Amino acid sequence: MELAEGVEVVKTYGSGTGVYRRFTDAVDRVSEVTLRWMAAIGLPFTVLTVLLSAGAMVSWIAGAGTVFVVSGWVSPGVLVGVLAVGVGLPSGVEQVIRLGYHVADGRRGAAALAAVLAERPLPQPAPGDARSPRGARVEFRGAGFTYPDGTRALAGVDLVLEQGTVTAVVGPSGSGKTTLARLVPRFWDVTEGAVLVGGVDVREIPTRELLGSVAFVLQEPVLLRTTVRDNIRLGRPDASDAEVEDAARRARIHERIAALPAGYDTVLAGAGGATGGGLSGGEAQRVTIARAILQDAPIVVLDEATAHADPHGEAAVQEALSALAAGRTLLVIAHRLHTITGADRIVVLDGGRVVEQGTHEELLLRSGRYARMWERGRVGSMA
Ligand SMILES: Nc1ncnc2c1ncn2[C@@H]1O[C@H](COP(=O)(O)OP(=O)(O)O)[C@@H](O)[C@H]1O
Ligand SMILES: [Mg+2]
Repeated sequence: MELAEGVEVVKTYGSGTGVYRRFTDAVDRVSEVTLRWMAAIGLPFTVLTVLLSAGAMVSWIAGAGTVFVVSGWVSPGVLVGVLAVGVGLPSGVEQVIRLGYHVADGRRGAAALAAVLAERPLPQPAPGDARSPRGARVEFRGAGFTYPDGTRALAGVDLVLEQGTVTAVVGPSGSGKTTLARLVPRFWDVTEGAVLVGGVDVREIPTRELLGSVAFVLQEPVLLRTTVRDNIRLGRPDASDAEVEDAARRARIHERIAALPAGYDTVLAGAGGATGGGLSGGEAQRVTIARAILQDAPIVVLDEATAHADPHGEAAVQEALSALAAGRTLLVIAHRLHTITGADRIVVLDGGRVVEQGTHEELLLRSGRYARMWERGRVGSMA
């Protein structure tokens, strides 16, 4: 789970570094160099382009793969197989990301690694078919999703998130909330129906543009083992120090960072949740919110962003989220009911289907599912 979320950060911020970073020190060093380089040249997608060239594929796979072979996680034969396939794959960030994911997964054995050979990368639109989103409206049209293992997580979801509105999703654990959120930035593609961003099917939007439009704050704050400054700057690698600090101020975390031993140059310990640098879960969350603020995407997806904040820190996280949400299209997976009563629309999911939607008042009047959850005060404990 932690790994999967690391992958999302990597995907969202357009760098292949994070996945590798989290496994071995050797791999860490590669990442760190790349991260610095990325920050230095200030063009994440240049890095992507380079990463996606065949030559770079060889060095990435061989470099990371060698570590895995040396560590005894995979056999050299598997590495050669992955190398052969990796080089031949058509370009697309998803390949690098998914490859990284599965290579990392190979820690549990070569079988997991072999899955990469079977996995089809997320297809990119052909250059002539690519379209740009117009505006920041998000629409689910008959959207359904079944995980590769056959788990049907969503079915027939029709939902419109008007530009600049806040939509909160609630429902019991396993009802499909996280899955729904993941469809917007194409962490997964629908298996039925479609998801549209700015009137365009997300599958027709070049990955680069889509990830530029959608910021994602994860359930677990995922921080890389690098400075606070670079962690925030992942949102926009060409941002100046002043811009990084401004984002931190708006995320209500600047003063806390300034009080760290080396301020913005304090190196965080990395890995989801375990932040080092003395940051609490809520503070780490605010660092990731600062990152998303800096990214300045018109659409923001928040998955239970306050889940790990202590009650005291929760208010600060809420303030940070308000700063992030202002003027954007927001999809928030609600952790605590009282935080979403003001949402423009509340959507109740159950068993992968939308069972109710409306404003807080409308749903209370309906005396249905939501009203019962509200009465029990139980939404807060839902995952
Ligand atoms: N990576 C996965 N592979 C297979 N099944 C999954 C995966 N992630 C979630 N699921 C399943 O999909 C359903 C919806 O999960 P999820 O979207 O995480 O719900 P929620 O966020 O509301 O708790 C659940 O049955 C869950 O077990
Ligand atoms: Mg969830």
